[in-house]
Amino acid sequence: MLLCDAMLVSAQTNAGVAGRCMTCHKKETTGLYNQWFESSHALHKVRCIDCHGAQKSDPDAFMHYDAYIATLVTPRDCGTCHRQEMAEVANSYHAKAGQILDSNDAYLAHVSAGHPAAIQGCEACHGAKMKIDPRSDNMLSMETWPNSGIGRINPDGSLGSCNACHVRHSFSKAQARQPESCSKCHLGPDHPQKEVFEESKHGNTYYTNIDEMNLDADPWVVGEDYFAAPTCATCHMSATSTQACTHDAGGRISWTLRPIISTKKENWRQRRESMKDVCRTCHGSVFVDGHYYQFDASVKLYNEKFAKPSQDIITMVREKGLLENPASFSNDIEWSFWELWHHEGRRAQHGASMMGPDYTWWHGFYDVAKHFYFKFLPQARAYEDEEINTYINNLLTNDPMHQWLNGSTSELKKNIRSGKMQGIYQSMFESE
Ligand code: HEC
Ligand code: HEC
Ligand code: HEC
Ligand code: HEC
Ligand code: HEC
Ligand code: HEC
Ligand code: HEC
Ligand code: HEC
Repeated sequence: MLLCDAMLVSAQTNAGVAGRCMTCHKKETTGLYNQWFESSHALHKVRCIDCHGAQKSDPDAFMHYDAYIATLVTPRDCGTCHRQEMAEVANSYHAKAGQILDSNDAYLAHVSAGHPAAIQGCEACHGAKMKIDPRSDNMLSMETWPNSGIGRINPDGSLGSCNACHVRHSFSKAQARQPESCSKCHLGPDHPQKEVFEESKHGNTYYTNIDEMNLDADPWVVGEDYFAAPTCATCHMSATSTQACTHDAGGRISWTLRPIISTKKENWRQRRESMKDVCRTCHGSVFVDGHYYQFDASVKLYNEKFAKPSQDIITMVREKGLLENPASFSNDIEWSFWELWHHEGRRAQHGASMMGPDYTWWHGFYDVAKHFYFKFLPQARAYEDEEINTYINNLLTNDPMHQWLNGSTSELKKNIRSGKMQGIYQSMFESE
């Protein structure tokens, strides 16, 4: 239990004013009041004003029934009592998620759809840059509020919103430990982590054993307090018998599978070791190493066979000025290339990283191969450029991974049966 400066300070605020928040809101917003009343915060006497109380000078403070309050309760506000969580969130990749305006994704949303789509799409997950409505008395602009994006840019300069995962006003850790608290954002065609988890044996086992997950435990140590199955939080955030819980969700991952060509993160060995430590609670180390051996090979397969050649080709198309229309994304081939890496390539690797076979193959490599060979390459050939055609011909004739296109079925089947075809991919399994 923590008794922090903010509680001491707030204990000195006028108890009458603080009490009136609850009395009136019990009538005015009964559901909200009851969410708070049943929470661990209410139990520990953390009141409305302890979170919403503001200084008159705060950019978003307004007078509300005899008290200055702000509607936003930012990581800095929560951090007055939860310092460590605040610091870990601030150092995480999540906190940077609001800085997307210069991305191709943002360009695409703004030109091909339009501003409202970016607000209710991108910013609802990534976070908006919160604005104050200049026509009002410090009220939030309705263009940016409501918003609970993970990297929200707040008026006090802090980044993120704790209630992206901690649903208000219960702020329960049991709720945050469940996969649903991540799955507003981590799903869909370009990052289907929710779907991958649900199809994996981990997801199957979790959903058939929720009652055994001991979700309210304090602490919640995998292997000790629960052991039936891992959730997203287990692998990416929660404690093990040798590691503390962390609010930096990226601390245990070694690759980043987001760019066109996947790359290893800084200090990847150490990050991977932290994840393996989680796995080893329930599996033997040979089994765990085997998973990474297979996963690394799938990432390399995607990089070498599809990502690198398609990037070379689109670069030539661009540099030679072959695109008919000047604006980015105004030509079909750019959409094909985009979906190849941003959707299909990521899906294949996300499936492989978290044991989802259907995403690895049917929603992943199958789509990558189909669209690489029968959409992207034909679109590139249609420019009838000699250098590009030579590049493609070379690839298909000289690269053993692509030679099958000119082979005979019976010969290829023979090579699969004898293991010769598999041998072509041996280098994918070589570790660095
Ligand atoms: C006399 C009743 C009353 C009291 C006292 C009261 N509120 Fe409210 N509050 C309301 C009502 C009604 C609304 C909804 C206002 C509206 O519909 O515009 C509201 C809105 C709010 C909002 C949302 C504001 C926005 O527009 O984004 C917050 C946050 C809030 N109250 C917190 C508090 C806190 C904290 C206190 C104690 C300092 C408090 N309230 C005291 C009645 C009250
Ligand atoms: C532990 C901190 C905390 C406490 C305690 C708390 N709130 Fe909030 N409240 C929040 C957060 C976080 C948000 C969302 C704001 C944001 O995204 O920054 C919020 C949002 C709100 C909103 C606007 C959103 C909506 O759904 O309309 C109202 C109104 C509100 N709180 C009223 C209250 C009242 C009344 C109490 C006391 C019964 C209370 N809050 C207690 C943290 C708190
Ligand atoms: C449903 C929630 C959601 C929506 C809507 C969404 N994103 Fe994302 N975005 C994510 C998640 C989750 C990731 C991280 C995926 C991962 O790491 O596998 C991400 C990744 C990204 C990245 C990659 C960041 C990097 O470091 O490589 C960019 C850029 C991006 N999104 C921009 C946008 C833009 C712009 C829009 C609107 C056109 C948008 N996103 C819509 C959830 C969303
Ligand atoms: C990415 C989702 C996510 C975000 C964002 C997030 N949390 Fe958490 N939080 C969790 C999860 C999951 C747990 C449960 C971890 C466990 O005990 O296994 C948790 C637990 C907690 C706990 C209980 C810790 C304990 O040891 O009992 C506190 C307090 C907390 N978070 C505060 C915050 C604050 C403050 C912020 C914003 C600065 C924040 N969280 C942002 C997911 C999140
Ligand atoms: C005035 C101090 C204070 C503020 C501000 C505050 N908390 Fe807490 N919080 C506490 C106390 C006290 C507890 C209960 C003791 C504990 O679990 O550490 C708690 C518990 C929690 C828990 C664990 C709840 C559970 O299920 O056991 C979470 C999650 C949490 N807070 C998140 C937040 C978030 C998010 C914010 C900001 C929106 C916030 N807190 C603001 C004092 C505060
Ligand atoms: C409100 C949306 C949202 C929620 C909820 C959310 N995330 Fe994220 N997450 C994102 C976005 C967006 C990114 C990409 C960040 C960027 O583009 O800068 C991301 C990135 C990540 C990453 C990659 C980090 C890195 O360093 O590469 C991990 C791992 C992750 N999230 C795990 C989780 C887990 C686990 C939960 C639930 C406990 C969760 N996220 C909840 C939006 C969200
Ligand atoms: C069994 C443990 C486990 C579970 C459960 C799990 N993950 Fe992962 N996750 C991993 C591993 C392993 C990786 C790849 C690590 C690496 O790159 O070294 C990963 C990678 C990620 C990434 C990075 C993707 C990128 O584009 O670089 C995100 C985001 C993520 N997971 C989110 C989630 C979410 C959300 C859930 C729940 C729906 C979840 N994970 C469930 C183990 C897990
Ligand atoms: C809380 C326990 C727990 C943790 C932690 C855990 N797993 Fe598992 N894992 C299981 C269970 C249970 C199964 C299902 C076993 C079976 O097939 O009977 C499983 C199955 C698997 C499978 C087999 C999938 C299949 O379809 O046959 C792989 C691979 C795997 N886990 C890898 C990992 C890796 C890698 C990590 C860490 C990133 C990890 N697990 C973390 C409990 C866990």
